[in-house]
Amino acid sequence: MDITLKEITKIFQAKDKSETVAVNDFNITIPSGKLIGLLGPSGCGKSTTLYMIAGLLTPNHGRIYFGDEDVTDMAPEDRGIGLVFQNYALYPHMTVRQNIMFPLENIKVPKEEALKRAQDMADLVGIGELMNRKPKQLSGGQQQRVAIARALVKKPRVLLLDEPLSNLDARLRLATREEIKRIQRETGITTIFVTHDQEEAMSISDEIILMDLGIKQQVGEPQDVYDEPKNLFVAKFLGTPPINLMPGEIKNKQVLIRGSKVTGKAAKNQEVVVGIRPEGFEIDPNGIMELEVYMVETIGRDTTLIIKNFNDSAKSYRIIVDARHRIKPGDKVKFNIESDKIFVFNRETGERL
Ligand SMILES: Nc1ncnc2c1ncn2[C@@H]1O[C@H](COP(=O)(O)OP(=O)(O)OP(=O)(O)O)[C@@H](O)[C@H]1O
Ligand SMILES: [Mg+2]
Repeated sequence: MDITLKEITKIFQAKDKSETVAVNDFNITIPSGKLIGLLGPSGCGKSTTLYMIAGLLTPNHGRIYFGDEDVTDMAPEDRGIGLVFQNYALYPHMTVRQNIMFPLENIKVPKEEALKRAQDMADLVGIGELMNRKPKQLSGGQQQRVAIARALVKKPRVLLLDEPLSNLDARLRLATREEIKRIQRETGITTIFVTHDQEEAMSISDEIILMDLGIKQQVGEPQDVYDEPKNLFVAKFLGTPPINLMPGEIKNKQVLIRGSKVTGKAAKNQEVVVGIRPEGFEIDPNGIMELEVYMVETIGRDTTLIIKNFNDSAKSYRIIVDARHRIKPGDKVKFNIESDKIFVFNRETGERL
């Protein structure tokens, strides 16, 4: 079942009447059976969006549809959603089994069936052996999976996960995100996964939705959004190390950095921001751009060159090259730039040219 948000706006009003537009005229259709990453910086409106889909918040404007059904005025418990909160809370005095079965008590599922469904869900998320433990006897990742099993036990139409991995350490985060992907595949349930971690969203999502300041910025398959960012915000938000941004200009259909042509662009003469992905530099003795290497970091397969004092700016730039190039700090290296790794943005609006 797909989910559609139509012109959704949410405004919070404080006691002093000051207003925050948390979500601004949001339009999207989330395809059935997919895992969608809802991504953006802190405060951009991700949780607010999720809670409106869940029915815990009511939009000031717009409608929400599950399939063809308008659910905007429907109570949360009638929507058929499973929700895992940003700070998931298990009931500490209950066992894992009791925690998972809890949502079924309210809807009066017979005990026998409830037990079976709880066990099935626990098996699905890989904690079937831990049913008699209390939450404090579990690792963070195991607790997380109990929360997911509890969200799934009512057989929801939609699974909503709000930063479900934020309390886990790096290694467990990786393992648990793969687990979530597997569970989503096996159940085929339409899932929205909220995170501010771009790598996490890129790695498990069928599609990502990027938000900033309550406004949808771009939607698409992760690699497509990375390869074709619509604006400076999107280009900056995706990628580690981040894209290198340099002041430049367009003159006679040429894009110039420090007076040298780096690419062509059929646009009017103007000042621009040029973005080059760290992997877009190619070492070439006849290259068009010479840079002095300030520092070299080699981690496994890749070497990162750090460039400073470019254009007299305080910023440093990062370039990823193959580790077999033995480059030392102080070396002056010439590069060519791959045309599909370079992006040109309007300096005022940030729109891609
Ligand atoms: N109950 C509320 N009352 C007033 N303002 C709120 C309320 N809830 C959220 N906001 C504001 O709305 C905006 C969006 O908040 P939201 O919680 O949706 O952000 P988020 O993207 O989930 O951020 P984070 O990544 O930090 O969880 C923020 O500016 C926030 O301060
Ligand atoms: Mg949030």
